Amino acid sequence: MQTTFEVPSNLRGSTYISTELYQRMYRHSIEEPLAFWEQQAHEFISWRKPWRSVLEFDYHKAKIAWFLGAELNVCENCVDRHLVTRANKTAILWEGNEPGEVRKLSYADLHREVCKFANVLKSRGVKAGDRVAIYMPMVPEVAVAMLACARIGAVHSVIFGGFSAESVRDRILDSQCKVLVTGNEIVRGPKTIALKQIADEALQQAPCVESVVVFQRTKSPTSMQPGRDLWWHDVMAAASAECPALAFDSEHPLFILYTSGSTGKPKGVMHTSGGYLLYTALTHKYVFDYRENDIYFCAADVGWVTGHSYIVYGPLANGATTVMFESIPTYPNAGRYWDVIDRHQVNIFYTAPTAIRTVAKEGPELPAKFSLASLRVLGSVGEPINRDAWLWYYEQVGRSRCSIVDTWWQTETGGILISPLPGATPQKPGSATLPLFGIRPCLVDDDGKVIEGNGVKGKLCISFPWPGQMRTVYGDHERFVQTYFSQFPGKYFTGDGCTRDEDGYYWITGRVDDVLNVAGHRLGTAEIESAIVSSGVVAEAAVVGMPHELKGIGIYAFCVLRDGGKSGGATAELAIKDAVRKVISPIATPDRIQFVPGLPKTRSGKIMRRILRKIANGDFENFGDITTLADPSVVDEIAKGARAVPA
Ligand code: WTA
Repeated sequence: MQTTFEVPSNLRGSTYISTELYQRMYRHSIEEPLAFWEQQAHEFISWRKPWRSVLEFDYHKAKIAWFLGAELNVCENCVDRHLVTRANKTAILWEGNEPGEVRKLSYADLHREVCKFANVLKSRGVKAGDRVAIYMPMVPEVAVAMLACARIGAVHSVIFGGFSAESVRDRILDSQCKVLVTGNEIVRGPKTIALKQIADEALQQAPCVESVVVFQRTKSPTSMQPGRDLWWHDVMAAASAECPALAFDSEHPLFILYTSGSTGKPKGVMHTSGGYLLYTALTHKYVFDYRENDIYFCAADVGWVTGHSYIVYGPLANGATTVMFESIPTYPNAGRYWDVIDRHQVNIFYTAPTAIRTVAKEGPELPAKFSLASLRVLGSVGEPINRDAWLWYYEQVGRSRCSIVDTWWQTETGGILISPLPGATPQKPGSATLPLFGIRPCLVDDDGKVIEGNGVKGKLCISFPWPGQMRTVYGDHERFVQTYFSQFPGKYFTGDGCTRDEDGYYWITGRVDDVLNVAGHRLGTAEIESAIVSSGVVAEAAVVGMPHELKGIGIYAFCVLRDGGKSGGATAELAIKDAVRKVISPIATPDRIQFVPGLPKTRSGKIMRRILRKIANGDFENFGDITTLADPSVVDEIAKGARAVPA
């Protein structure tokens, strides 16, 4: 079995970074981090005012600040400064739901639209520091709205278009958004989602929202509330295209993005301006070996961090042409990506393993029908990529002449932390390989002891700040400290397990906390359990991950019925699934529900999840020590039931 894939010969020597240069730059970034980042900050960002100090931090109190005293405007960096040389270059290339439904916004167009929308926001009373919720279809106007916020110092909170009314409401309330930017409908593959209707439901209990701007995606009738709701096209037609970009502090908040953790409700991950923009711009350039004339296509949704950092901020800071894709990989068939790549001559393509597995299932015939000759770099993100999917991507899509960059990072990290660099890093399928500049990964054991050397396994921490790191949990700094800096004091804890092999390569093994990466979407088991209980038919539920051919991880729910199991069956299952869809989103729907007489609990009432994880993984025997359980016999019953549940 081939374990290492050398740099494809056509890329050797032609990329920004070679193996030797990576080593040299990495060493510099670790030995002299301040000098390194200062140099990069000059190269990537246009500042209005210089910094008085590069970095101040205290990992015990979770205080992190970069480029203190400096000022910039993030929007100016992503738009205005390109007007001199790239005014007519396409900034956003939009491929709509139907193949060939295309819109192109040049940097000049983007500048005009962003200035106008910034004026719209101002006219609705939005000021620097105010929060604006964005719950929209995947259209260029999402980026326009985000950049307009950045231009006037407002803080955007983008909410994924697949979330339910309750999820939208909770997110809006948590950060007290003043304005909501939405769309009338989302079209995704064969489906239509009545977005405005869901937004209206959310707003019934979110009185903080004073104005709603609605982008008209389809011609369907849409109800508008007079005095509150405005059509995007109406307000834009009346808005001035003059809007000066004011300078803001480097640590001025840029956005909040909600993400799931092990406990409680999703938390508002907060990123700030200077460091985040520098980090996304730098990693976009080097990880994808981005060139001036490249067509760059990240197929993520802008509702997730990948869309923020690698559809909008990183690429636009670098003056790139960024492709925005509204549809799904299987519409009208599983060759859609390859069609988009050929038609737009895409050079860099970035997607998730779950999407690769979904289209790979259809066989190699589909990609074989396309040229794909424009491709040079292929990226993967969101979950570990299994060897088969990696090889399929490398061979069938990349034709063994593209670099695969398996990029490991998180909403919290702002940008990619561990990844190969094209032309520099020999590949091992399934490994995110080596840390990027300035990143100091370390593995720790359960007692917090750092595990040195190679050929070891532990929990992944990062022991030194980088500019793209999140700064706080919105409105709850204590939660920030507790979640990331308390388990292993002095280090940022990622929540991932990891091995470091004999060559020092990192292999992420998945979450070690109660977070599930389902089809690349991040969900907390606690929030799914509470949604299940809200169905009314379940007294108690425990959710764990299970292997899933396409999604990577599927959702396995063990449920104790309220009436002791008499009702059971299909009706209860439906009620549970409906409740999850309503409270969270269809993406959180359990793949498998098993009704059980009780959950395996210790005498102190704690659910022994490791037993449930074993059962969900098809292991019905090796449960280890279960003598501390209040009622060990329940384990046998659950195992017996699990064998009987149809897969
Ligand atoms: C997982 C997505 C293995 C990991 C950018 C992490 C990965 C979580 C990879 C963050 C990868 C992301 N290999 N696992 N290349 N990339 N993950 O916040 O468990 O949605 O902690 O950010 O996804 O998910 P999030």
